[in-house]
Amino acid sequence: MRIIDIIEAKKQGKEHSKEEIDFLINSLMDGTAADYQVSAWLMAVYFQGMTDTETAYLTDAMVRSGEVIDLGDLAAQVIDKHSTGGVGDKVTITLIPLLAACGVPVAKLSGKGLGHTGGTIDKLESIPGFNTKLSIQEMISQVKKIGVAIGAQTQKLTPADGKLYALRDVTATVDSRPLIASSVVSKKIASGADNIILDVKYGSGAFMKTPDDAVKLSEIMVKIGKKLNKNITAVITSMDEPLGRAVGNSLEIIEAIEFLKGNITEGDIAELTYDIAALSLVQLEKYSDIESAKSFVKEIISSGKALEKFRELIDAQGGNSEVIDDYSKFPKVKYTYKMKAHTDGYVSRIDALKVAYGCKLLGAGREKKTDEIDYGVGVYLNKKSGEFVKSGDTLCTIYSNDENKTKTAVEYCEKAFTFSSSLPEGEILIYKVIK
Ligand code: URA
Repeated sequence: MRIIDIIEAKKQGKEHSKEEIDFLINSLMDGTAADYQVSAWLMAVYFQGMTDTETAYLTDAMVRSGEVIDLGDLAAQVIDKHSTGGVGDKVTITLIPLLAACGVPVAKLSGKGLGHTGGTIDKLESIPGFNTKLSIQEMISQVKKIGVAIGAQTQKLTPADGKLYALRDVTATVDSRPLIASSVVSKKIASGADNIILDVKYGSGAFMKTPDDAVKLSEIMVKIGKKLNKNITAVITSMDEPLGRAVGNSLEIIEAIEFLKGNITEGDIAELTYDIAALSLVQLEKYSDIESAKSFVKEIISSGKALEKFRELIDAQGGNSEVIDDYSKFPKVKYTYKMKAHTDGYVSRIDALKVAYGCKLLGAGREKKTDEIDYGVGVYLNKKSGEFVKSGDTLCTIYSNDENKTKTAVEYCEKAFTFSSSLPEGEILIYKVIK
């Protein structure tokens, strides 16, 4: 078998056999397939797609490229959550300590930023000292000890995803259903949890642009998960506007901390975290209905337990948990620029993709595999959709380390805002739940 024949077959839209997919992943792992060949294959998959059977083979080959965490008897109680990626999406960071504080153990394998979207790993690494490179043993013992661990995909866990993910990020091949499905589900299988909750996003800031595409992606992932005996639910949510107000690594962690402190109780971040936490508790049969699960979740936040769990998590993974009480411990930026409104009216839309491009060029994401992230940069939305502004009000604040990049980011953000004279309709947060 030769890699070039596999690329040719996919270029012509043929269905790969299990042997071909195994050969491709083995060649990726042992280095006999060059990055440019794998990239060409990824682009062929992007255009030609993959059948559900091929996607299941690919997922399985990616899981087998590394080890699987064995949580033993604990696996049945443990949950893992994953988002398919959004802009300003810090729900993993708000949700994971919250669920752990509710008594649900969480073992989570996350990714870095992908395409225009931010990654949980990059966000957490903005906390000085925070180590996401946990060994399998460290991950297991931390879940047993404090009920929560968040690790990055590593050489041992789904390493094939690590390699494909890094290539997709820089070759415009992220937004492909089979590639997303295999990437997400392989990590969820490797994390060892029996319970999985997926937040599948659609909209301008997501890889799936329409609810229909998100439904199709969810159906594939739920199907593969069930085949592998996982208790899996996909929640399909809107990503037309950045989630919350902060976009950029440390800015998003600060917003997540504010939520865990109980200072953010309304709006998309709060609503989505409450909803997904409540759904998880119902999925685990801790509660029989969403409303009582939600009341419990809110109590856990107001009691301070969720915040304390986050502190415990940061401490356990070597981070400086003083950031919780003192935001000046996060990486600093040289410039802050307040972008003003030129008109009176309601903000009717903030295009997530445009804000994401602005952030990426400030340095919050990578253009090349080897790029370093600038953890402090980003955009803070002082105004969100549905809020009234007067000419001269600050619409958003740009955090930057480069004056020229600030100017270009402002241009993107200017284009992201749309206004109307009347109050716009509210956004639907959860479109559908697929089990
Ligand atoms: N999250 C992942 O882990 N992989 C993808 O491909 C997209 C989102």
